[in-house]
Amino acid sequence: MKSIWTEEIEIRRRRELPGDMEAQAVVIGAGMAGILTAYYLKQAGIRAVVLEADRIGSGQTKNTTAKITSQHNLIYAGLIRTFGRRMAEHYAAANEAAIGEYERLIREKGIDCDFVRCPAYLYSRSGAELLKRETEAASSLGIKASFETECELPFPVAGVIRFGDQARFHPLKFLAEMSEGLEIYEQTRVLKVEGRRVETARGTVTAEHVVFAAHYPFINVPGYYFARMHQERSYVIGLEGAERPEGMYLGIDPGGLSFRTCGDYLLLGGGSHRTGVNPGRRTAAEMPSKQGAVTGCRYGMLRSRAGELYPGCREAFRWSAQDCMTLDGLPYIGRFSGRKPNWYVATGFGKWGMTSSMVSARILTAMISGRDCPEADIFSPQRHFTARAAKGLVVHGAYTVKGLAKHLLPSGNKEIIPNCPHMGCRLERNPEEESYDCPCHGSRFDREGHLMDGPAQTDCRKRE
Ligand code: FES
Repeated sequence: MKSIWTEEIEIRRRRELPGDMEAQAVVIGAGMAGILTAYYLKQAGIRAVVLEADRIGSGQTKNTTAKITSQHNLIYAGLIRTFGRRMAEHYAAANEAAIGEYERLIREKGIDCDFVRCPAYLYSRSGAELLKRETEAASSLGIKASFETECELPFPVAGVIRFGDQARFHPLKFLAEMSEGLEIYEQTRVLKVEGRRVETARGTVTAEHVVFAAHYPFINVPGYYFARMHQERSYVIGLEGAERPEGMYLGIDPGGLSFRTCGDYLLLGGGSHRTGVNPGRRTAAEMPSKQGAVTGCRYGMLRSRAGELYPGCREAFRWSAQDCMTLDGLPYIGRFSGRKPNWYVATGFGKWGMTSSMVSARILTAMISGRDCPEADIFSPQRHFTARAAKGLVVHGAYTVKGLAKHLLPSGNKEIIPNCPHMGCRLERNPEEESYDCPCHGSRFDREGHLMDGPAQTDCRKRE
């Protein structure tokens, strides 16, 4: 199931790490966050080497819906309440600046990547109160936000928040250009990091600074990110023959959908669930598809909604995404741990990977090059622990205990031992995507047990 982005472009291949080397910085992961970080480090005169387990942009960057926005669901009223106005301003300013920085780079380099400035909306069909409160909060932080009752969606709404001057683009076309001129080694999986030494099967890179930008940090201790994040899957279908709104939309009600135009297609998204928690029974809801007739309840739900909203439309693409969700809903960008002053991390972007990648690159480059970055405080992995985070920790812990408790149960799988190689939780079969997914921290494996998504580092063990 290829995303619409991978249909249109293939990024130039790079060679594997040729052997041991030294650099000033090593960046683990050649997705949007890693590539942008390496780019800004180079601009700052710092030699950075990028190590990628697979191909450039082959992780979550290829699965995004590529909205570049400071509108991250309902967030600003809560941020002001929990972290105070100054830190909430930092969050808003960093994300608004990220949009402007994408535009600056694209114009300066003449990158042809379908970049369009457009508004972003949150909509509700059930009530306007939360939207009004959020509009007030966002406006007070300097964002161009307004509450409205009319919009382009094909159903009535109780209201929308409109953020002006947001953007969308083609992430892989952008990444292809941005990765030129950087020192990147593909098919080079990092196996171990000790101090300044980053070990791979192809050689060791020794560097003063180590940046973990590979979606989910695979080091368990220190940092303990496995206890502070879970992963969620969500689903997208690309529709031909559907109305295409100018704005980008996200519903805040349970089961709310995402809408975003991409050329001749409408991208309709939704169906989020915790990775490894069985999405449920298949449904018969189907539409004609260029990519065959795979159905499951999440894709089926999207097809069914598409058929109701846009009669006669046709599914041309479908794909899914995997997102790291933090305890308090904010990314972890900054020092990996107080015990590792030269390690840095960029993870936990939630559903907002493009904007957060740019924020990460700018913050981490400032830290590594010794520049001040006042906005960094709200993103710090060492920020204060909130009541929401405490609640998230309890829920996350319960899933982990359950997953670990089930690992001793007998399994009907004849090929692989379905215990996750990360920390041993029992994998659950995901009928939606014919994969085995871990409910504890979200690692995923194909039917043969090959690793698809971390934090696990290895394939499942095979039965003797
Ligand atoms: Fe941690 Fe599976 S991802 S136990």
